[in-house]
Amino acid sequence: MHNGKARAFTNIALIKYWGKKDQQLILPMNNSLSLTLDAFYTETSVSFSKKYTADSFYLDGQLQDEKSTEKVRRFLDLVREQSQFFEYAIVQSQNFVPTAAGLASSASGLAALAGACNDALGLNLSDKELSRLARKGSGSACRSIYGGFVEWEKGDSDQNSYALPVPSNHWEDELAMIFILINDKAKDISSRNGMQRTVATSTYYTDWVKNVDIDIKKAREAITTHDFQALGEVTESNCLKMHATTLAASPPFTYWTPNSLKAMNKVHTMRQAGQDCYFTMDAGPNVKVLCQKKDSQKIYHELQKEFPAEQLVMAYAGKGMETLETEVAK
Ligand code: DP6
Repeated sequence: MHNGKARAFTNIALIKYWGKKDQQLILPMNNSLSLTLDAFYTETSVSFSKKYTADSFYLDGQLQDEKSTEKVRRFLDLVREQSQFFEYAIVQSQNFVPTAAGLASSASGLAALAGACNDALGLNLSDKELSRLARKGSGSACRSIYGGFVEWEKGDSDQNSYALPVPSNHWEDELAMIFILINDKAKDISSRNGMQRTVATSTYYTDWVKNVDIDIKKAREAITTHDFQALGEVTESNCLKMHATTLAASPPFTYWTPNSLKAMNKVHTMRQAGQDCYFTMDAGPNVKVLCQKKDSQKIYHELQKEFPAEQLVMAYAGKGMETLETEVAK
């Protein structure tokens, strides 16, 4: 029996990963840049044993069906191939999210699984190798290996596509992100399927790729100079560009719902009234508001005028993936 356990926090991209050039290896079309957050995380333990005749995956104590186990099984296959250690495994994951609002994150999940496998099999992978491994589970997971600001270098091969921390002199500790959980029934298109359809069909996609390097550069500069407005502006504009590509896909789609628009509008109104805040959105209806820690309580209370407290979650910068003590094997 080989056991390992790890915890990883989720990350939110300020400059988005949107599109793959290699589906198998998960090589992205563009660099992306994220902030790892403390409010949402996954703890995963894995046990490999000769006794097991198949892989099984428990999420929050529930045995998962074929479909939900597939991503995990494919990842375990990669680990087995890389380590030449051919035993089945039991994976047990716990998602720590303040509410059950569909925020289960593949970024924290796959990063924690990569860390747990590294621990269980004594692979001694460096952070860069862990990032490469996590990437092959879910692209955004490669960024959750580190805390704070992180950039995923797109690379052009398995070897050179990985994430690295962005030096910031701890500036991330002065920032906050408020999640507005939108419960509207959104069209259920996973990020994986959404980006695939966009790359294949969106007439705006080439423009996305052309512009994203400029946004990355702006974000890096803003982080180096601790320029919050510049970081906020490029975060919001990059998000809008990503979402614009989906409208030009065939068939077209959007992750926005009426309440997402209400939240985006609220952020604009607050900004016009002098509050320093900017939004971003991923492949779902939730809206995340980037602000400075010093303003975060005021902005939170202002948001509470439109959204009930149970829909708001305050997050600050989080840590990188860490290995945990394993419990005694069952
Ligand atoms: C919109 O990492 O979930 O959140 O690599 O197919 O597993 P796969 O996709 P995933 O995509 C995340 C897309 C995004 C933007 C981002 O996190 O950069």
